[in-house]
Amino acid sequence: MFLVNGSPVATQARCPHAQGPLHQGEVCGTVLTCPWHGWSFDLVTGECEEDPDLLIKRYDVAVDGNDILVSQLSA
Ligand code: FES
Repeated sequence: MFLVNGSPVATQARCPHAQGPLHQGEVCGTVLTCPWHGWSFDLVTGECEEDPDLLIKRYDVAVDGNDILVSQLSA
């Protein structure tokens, strides 16, 4: 899970490039960079900078008391 403009966003854990640990990537602004080969994904749109045909799945996250609610965003 990452903070994007102050809002939590969850993504798929594996990178769509070669299944690297995307959840361990670094975020700069709205861009998430995969630690294996450095491909970058926009956390707002899901788009990959290196391959426009690749999208990551993103999820809205909300906290309701002790519950964390996750819903899938449309691609
Ligand atoms: S596995 Fe993520 S960039 Fe290659």
